[in-house]
Amino acid sequence: MVGHPRWTVTQKINQWTRYLVLYPRLGFLFVPFLTYSAEPLPVVLSGEVVFAACMVCHSTQEMQRGPILDGMPAWYLLAQMKKFNTGIRGTMEDNKGESLMAPVAQQYHDPSDLREVAAKFEKRPVARHLRTVRGNPQRGKLLYATCASCHGVEGRGKKSIQSPPLAFLEDWYLMDQLRKFQLGRRGYDPRDTTGKLMQNIAKIYTINDLRDIVAYLASLNPSQERQAIIPSDNFSEPKGAVAEQTGSGL
Ligand code: HEC
Ligand code: HEC
Repeated sequence: MVGHPRWTVTQKINQWTRYLVLYPRLGFLFVPFLTYSAEPLPVVLSGEVVFAACMVCHSTQEMQRGPILDGMPAWYLLAQMKKFNTGIRGTMEDNKGESLMAPVAQQYHDPSDLREVAAKFEKRPVARHLRTVRGNPQRGKLLYATCASCHGVEGRGKKSIQSPPLAFLEDWYLMDQLRKFQLGRRGYDPRDTTGKLMQNIAKIYTINDLRDIVAYLASLNPSQERQAIIPSDNFSEPKGAVAEQTGSGL
């Protein structure tokens, strides 16, 4: 005990006051620090920023890109994003279009951002499309009667039965997706009931039937007054392009 100061009662009380009062108080200073370090840093991404990221592939700028989604209803876009997010769509290996889209859907999944982005797409006027699929629209019109029961006579879709508009989509993308349904490369997940339904329908048709239907759908595009209308018998393939070559290559 030599050399140890003998604390007075007052000193002891002071010491305990330090432990009981002062240190816990100081501890509060660390609370915000601890909470922040325990959680990942909050990333503030507004819908605007996310939308710009989507437009890298969903605008008319790129060659290797996804479909133009301008004018597509928000309910459909959100439903498909959910499929990509939950692996109902986008998990098949060697599926070119899907393998571009799936990682993006994993990255952007904030529901309020996606709602904002979907609303932005819906508000945009349907784009002017290039035609790349050769087909007979008169024959296509007759074949389309079956599709019309779900996608509407004008190809504007029916939300009540989750059928998207077809008249707003580019012909290469329609052909691409119909071929995917036909070959079991979309709608393959057991949870994908609407995809499975479309698979069963697409399998009834030949490739030429589908080309004719797609050629007819191009004539229902509301932006057609802004595009060169090419009569079917005058249709010539764009220079150097083979029909469907502009597609995602399945
Ligand atoms: C790297 C390019 C790329 C980016 C970036 C991208 N997409 Fe896609 N997206 C695609 C491709 C390619 C497809 C077609 C997938 C297929 O073939 O099945 C697609 C398909 C979709 C579809 C399905 C459309 C349909 O008609 O069924 C939706 C919805 C979609 N994307 C939304 C988005 C949103 C929202 C963003 C931004 C968060 C986004 N995409 C960013 C490439 C991209
Ligand atoms: C029984 C109702 C029904 C009929 C009939 C039907 N479809 Fe669909 N179609 C759907 C539904 C539902 C979807 C949404 C699939 C999904 O959720 O992936 C769809 C999706 C599509 C898509 C994908 C669109 C996109 O944005 O990716 C295309 C293309 C399509 N249908 C074309 C056709 C054609 C062409 C016909 C006629 C040969 C047809 N459908 C007949 C219900 C139907």
